[in-house]
Amino acid sequence: MTEQFSKKAEAWSARFSEPVSDLVKRYTASVFFDKRLAQYDIQGSLAHAEMLAAQGIISAADRAEIERGMAQIRSEIEAGTFEWLLDLEDVHLNIEKRLTELVGDAGKRLHTGRSRNDQVATDIRLYVRAAIDDIVALLQSLRGALTDLAERHHDTIMPGFTHLQVAQPITFGHHMLAYVEMFGRDAERMLDARRRVNRLPLGAAALAGTTFPIDRLRVAKTLGFDDVCHNSLDAVSDRDFAIEFTAAASILMMHISRFSEELVMWISPRIGFIDIADRFCTGSSIMPQKKNPDVPELARGKTGRVYGHLTGLLTLMKGQPLAYNKDNQEDKEPLFDTIDTVTDTLRIFTDMASGITVKAENMRSAALQGYATATDLADYLVKKGLPFRDAHEAVAHAVRECDVAGCDLSEMSLETLQGFSTLIEQDVFAVLTLEGSVAARDHVGGTAPNQVRKAIERVRKQLAE
Ligand code: ARG
Repeated sequence: MTEQFSKKAEAWSARFSEPVSDLVKRYTASVFFDKRLAQYDIQGSLAHAEMLAAQGIISAADRAEIERGMAQIRSEIEAGTFEWLLDLEDVHLNIEKRLTELVGDAGKRLHTGRSRNDQVATDIRLYVRAAIDDIVALLQSLRGALTDLAERHHDTIMPGFTHLQVAQPITFGHHMLAYVEMFGRDAERMLDARRRVNRLPLGAAALAGTTFPIDRLRVAKTLGFDDVCHNSLDAVSDRDFAIEFTAAASILMMHISRFSEELVMWISPRIGFIDIADRFCTGSSIMPQKKNPDVPELARGKTGRVYGHLTGLLTLMKGQPLAYNKDNQEDKEPLFDTIDTVTDTLRIFTDMASGITVKAENMRSAALQGYATATDLADYLVKKGLPFRDAHEAVAHAVRECDVAGCDLSEMSLETLQGFSTLIEQDVFAVLTLEGSVAARDHVGGTAPNQVRKAIERVRKQLAE
């Protein structure tokens, strides 16, 4: 990893009598990973320089030089020709050093009224803000794909489970829309966290503020922040926003993981409810018959990694006195990995959702196996005047009888059913069918195909906003 970082730069501090060892240099450097922040570092520096010039702290000519140099650095980074130096520790010092090489003293004036402490906090906030915007857009695409799937299967019947036992018939569309709700809350949570991400630390300098007549609100406006951080000590040391973001990401991944778990079960030939496109699966090197659902399994596994980052960040912060401590440098890798994991996962799942094929016949026969309409029979008896508890008991007897006879409730004769309650009449068979059962749950939030259609309309409206 270090080869690409040449060692030609001189040790940067005049205060020390001996250089740090190579090992310590590597140990304390962050440039391997924080160079990802480069474009935000430049953006922050340009806003800072603009403000310094507007306030008469640097000259307009210096500002112009800084802009010229930064434009060049930007294109060097994009072209991959920028030389990142381990000796220069991090992204900030690397860019500043190159700027000075390119434009001389103007480059050395850029850091007036600023510290790497408020600089790095600003960069990460810009980075996380952009990540949130990406993630929210990806969540909406995934919701769109799941909604399309729900629409195709608004009346496809499957068993709904509690305790992983067949409970009541539901529609597959309704099941998919449950995840659409979850991912909708994830987007809300991300946007809520964004409000606290979107505040400007710059101007706090090292920890106490600066003696220069800076204009923080101007910088905030240039960078699109809603406000400044109102306490300089808090501004440089606060990483709540990173923790909140990772917490929201953890909940999101928990939803992904639950969905994955269902996909893995449904794909299993023992259940056989769905198939997913081959591009999300792999075979086995030894068992030629296998088609393994690698993508959902891996997503379930990667959820643990994001939880780990949340725990890591919370632990990183718990022992830190005010204000900035070098510990904070450890915030980046977990954050970056969280962002990569979540964005890749959402992209893949959106594609995978459109590659799901439903085996409606298998779903249907599974729904017929577990007396899924027993509650419907109880409700039927209640509607004929029987108290619910008595109805429950009558149906329990009927189910036992079915168990012995090896048939479904709907397959019993009217006479047999009447043995459990004299209230039962010919019209009972309408409620004992799977279609009758789902269609009857026709209220907001219910599984009736009619409601699934309405819910889809509601989601589509949200997505169009
Ligand atoms: N690389 C550092 C970080 O990520 C930048 C801030 C360094 N500040 C300092 N006083 N050493 O946190």
